[in-house]
Amino acid sequence: MKVVAAVDELRRALEAGPRRAVGFVPTMGALHQGHLALAAAARTGSEMVVLSIFVNPLQFGPGEDYVGYPRAEGRDLDLAAQAGVDVVFRPAVSEIYPPGHPGMVTVSAGPLGAVLEGAARPGHFDGVLTVVAKLFNLVRPDGAWFGQKDAQQLALVKRMVTDLRFPVEIHACPTVRAPDGLAISSRNAYLSSEERVRATVLHRALLAGRAALESGNGAGAAEDAMAATVSSEPGVALDYARVVDPDTFDAPKDGGPALIAGAVRVGATRLIDNLLWPSPGGEEV
Ligand code: PAJ
Repeated sequence: MKVVAAVDELRRALEAGPRRAVGFVPTMGALHQGHLALAAAARTGSEMVVLSIFVNPLQFGPGEDYVGYPRAEGRDLDLAAQAGVDVVFRPAVSEIYPPGHPGMVTVSAGPLGAVLEGAARPGHFDGVLTVVAKLFNLVRPDGAWFGQKDAQQLALVKRMVTDLRFPVEIHACPTVRAPDGLAISSRNAYLSSEERVRATVLHRALLAGRAALESGNGAGAAEDAMAATVSSEPGVALDYARVVDPDTFDAPKDGGPALIAGAVRVGATRLIDNLLWPSPGGEEV
């Protein structure tokens, strides 16, 4: 496995040997089973796997956790090597955002970037899409793997690739969960042991929302069921509980596919999760 930090080193690593189908997994590091599932899928679907580790300052708002975001570089490299990654790209901030370029051109996420997570975190998705676009241009992958865990990010990356004609195939991987249902996330490291138990309410709320949809109640009833579940857990505050169309994030079509999405605060930690309905392939994702 090669570990590179500079853009020209990355280029040399990509250009060594015959041209191979490149699979790309962008991450912010602190790797966990969710990231490793993406790397495994990319390994199966490509000849060369590139994984990036870059905590992207542009997608963090003022007062968010950019500085405190978990960083675990040595461990990340061991895990990436075990997952069969060929090249780890871990640039410094100055490599991606060279100083002296104040009037930087960025990608705008548009209306889909202004709802749910985008409403709670203004500018977040512009920051995500800008760095993903840059990374796509540097790595030039044939395919890129993203988690269903960040459903709005996935929908927006697909939109960007379609609208800006990036020659990249976007693949989605199901959400990897702990046995008690909590979606694995780098931010789970912020939870105390008591908060870690309370945090399972988010998954329980999504299940309650899905049960409401399954029994033929509409999106509004599903959202109410989710909110009621969250309010039953002390120390957990609801940010939003919504049922939307998985592609447009508008109201879902009657009986059509729906994304059941929620965000909560457990103490100072903000967690997001979602389920698709109906579940693709009958699996829970
Ligand atoms: P990060 O939070 O590190 O996540 C990297 C990728 O892992 C994303 O595609 C995310 O959806 C996926 N992922 C995280 N937890 C998962 C889980 N439990 N199951 C399945 N997949 C999971 O998302 C980002 O970084 C950044 O916004 C990035 C795209 C790298 C741009 O900076």
